[in-house]
Amino acid sequence: FEEGAFTGKHVVITAGPTQEAIDPVRYISNHSSGKMGYALAQAAADQGAQVTLISGPTNLPCPDRVERIQVKSAEQMLEASLQRISETDVFIASAAVADYRPSEIAEHKIKKVDGEDQMIIKLVKNPDIVATVAQHPERPFTVGFAAETQDVAQYAQAKLARKNLDMIVANDVSNTKIGFNSDNNAATVFWGSGQRELELMSKAQMASEILNCIKTQLKD
Ligand code: PMT
Repeated sequence: FEEGAFTGKHVVITAGPTQEAIDPVRYISNHSSGKMGYALAQAAADQGAQVTLISGPTNLPCPDRVERIQVKSAEQMLEASLQRISETDVFIASAAVADYRPSEIAEHKIKKVDGEDQMIIKLVKNPDIVATVAQHPERPFTVGFAAETQDVAQYAQAKLARKNLDMIVANDVSNTKIGFNSDNNAATVFWGSGQRELELMSKAQMASEILNCIKTQLKD
């Protein structure tokens, strides 16, 4: 097994969407395919890391030499992330976590009510996984993503500070050629003292560029 830039490092990556149950047959989710996170897992393993991929529901096969933990909800994703925190060197949050979940999961399938044209589902805020990791006393080097549809750089830098992250990868998800479900992405990576533009490229290439940025910051 070849020595790589991440040999001896444990990299934990969240990927894909979360599913937040409404009742036994319905859920709230989003369009994340998991491709970005799985590409990061593959690239980190190729560079010698021990990789744990905490994945929401996707159709993707588990990358080679990667331990995958499959979860559904944000709460399960948080629990799996915290379980490994003391042995994690780098945490990368590429998952599209639902910000809110139904306040209650109905025990039985919710029935249509005759004469009622509206139904209301009450939502409550989910825990913020990457912010929780970044606040932990044993915090690893913590990297977030920012999926924005406007003022990408400004919102991303605000998230970097507010969530106490070491680095953030900002992608514009209003452009359907990149971001959700596409094989390509374009992004700007921000850290405390600098930034790097990653022009349109495959998610596999972007994964190794992101790891290069992390490697440089880990050395400093
Ligand atoms: O999966 P693909 O189809 O390949 O698409 C890739 C992607 C567009 C999903 C990915 O590149 C991306 O941008 N992922 C982050 C999506 C997102 O939820 O962004 P956000 O700006 O809402 O969240 C900011 C950061 O906080 C993210 O690192 C997110 O993982 C994290 N977060 C958000 C909410 C929450 N409750 N917990 C979190 O950890």
